[in-house]
This record gives sequence, C-alpha cells and structure tokens, in this order.
Amino acid sequence: MDDTPQFAPAALEAILADAARLGFAMSCEPRTGSLLATLAASKPGGRVLELGTGVGAGAAWLLHGMSGACSLLSVEADPQVGAVAAKHLGHDPRVVFETADADAWLDAYDGPRFHLAYVDCRPGKFHRLDDLTQLLEPGALYLGDDLLPQATWPPDQQQRVDAFLTRLHERRNLLSTPMRWASGLVLATRI
Ligand SMILES: C[S@@+](CC[C@H](N)C(=O)[O-])C[C@H]1O[C@@H](n2cnc3c(N)ncnc32)[C@H](O)[C@@H]1O
Repeated sequence: MDDTPQFAPAALEAILADAARLGFAMSCEPRTGSLLATLAASKPGGRVLELGTGVGAGAAWLLHGMSGACSLLSVEADPQVGAVAAKHLGHDPRVVFETADADAWLDAYDGPRFHLAYVDCRPGKFHRLDDLTQLLEPGALYLGDDLLPQATWPPDQQQRVDAFLTRLHERRNLLSTPMRWASGLVLATRI
C-alpha cells in the first residue's frame, strides 16, 4: 500500500522553500497534510481552526480541502514564521492569520465554535484541552499530531504525550482514535 499523497496544494512548494531558507523544520509532513485536506473537505461551509500556523504548510493543505464557503482562522505566536504563511496564502479570502499566543487567544476568543480544529502547539493539546473542546461544535473533528517520538524532543515530552492521550481518552465529550502513522496523530470527534 503506497500512502504517498496523490495531490498537493499549489502553494506548498514555495512555502517549503521559504521554510528551508528560514531554517523552519516543523511543517507537517505530506501524509498529515493530505489527511488535513480530506478532513477539511468533510466540512463544507465549516469553520476551521489551526493553532500553531508555522509557515503555513498545514494551512495550505487545509485550504486545499476547504470549500469556497469555509473559513480558516490560524493562530501563530512567532510573527516571522507567520509572515511566510501570510505571504503565500494571505490573498485567500477564506483565511485569517492571527499573530497571538494561543493561550492568550484561548482566553480572548468569543466567536462562533469550530467544525474542525488542527492543534499543533501546546495550548489546546498538552494543556487547556477542555477550553479547546468548548470551542468545538458537536460532531466537530480535532486533530493533534507529533505524538510519535522525535530526536528533537525534550526529555519530558513523552510524559506530556502520554498524559495528553490519557486525558483525551477520559473526556466523555470526545471520541478519539490514536494513529501510529505519519508523525503520530490523534483524531477525535466532539460528541
Ligand atoms: C509544529 S509547528 C506548526 C506547523 C504547522 N501547523 C504545519 O502543519 O505546517 C508549531 C508552531 O506553533 C507555534 N507556537 C508554539 N507555541 C505557540 C503558542 N503558545 N501560541 C501560538 N503559536 C505557538 C510555533 O512558533 C510553531 O510555528
């Protein structure tokens, strides 16, 4: 079985070239990106949230799958990497890039709930899972990644991942499936 994605967003190559120039090596891998596009396509007209934009690789995949009536709000603390995402994808009227710490964003956000959340930084994943869950519509999907060990992990990261997966499974309002695939993913539905 060849699980190489059979499609890719138009902007991806240029985004990854800028990422290489910046030395940014945290973009999602293509299989995760393909899954993001597939999940986004399951929510026509939906509101999509990404915490941790990076240079916009994940956002490009999400936008690839999103219908014209969808919207994406993507939050990134580091303005330098966020600027790369805005440069390549900011012309798309479906996306808003916000420069903010995700913790502060979680404190402040009072808009409508989301249909799909891709949580790619600590807030909303390793902590404040309940606050993030409150922002999901019933039936909404939650994707977390980077759960399989990586050489760059700090010594306490495995404990953080284990505690996150335990908390996730204990949530009565989330039905989750961990996947030993790509960088290690967990997909959950808000019930
Ligand atoms: C794994 S990278 C994101 C990759 C991107 N989501 C993708 O799929 O290509 C994580 C990003 O989260 C950002 N980040 C880390 N902590 C954050 C926080 N507390 N609030 C917002 N962004 C944060 C980092 O600056 C980094 O760009």
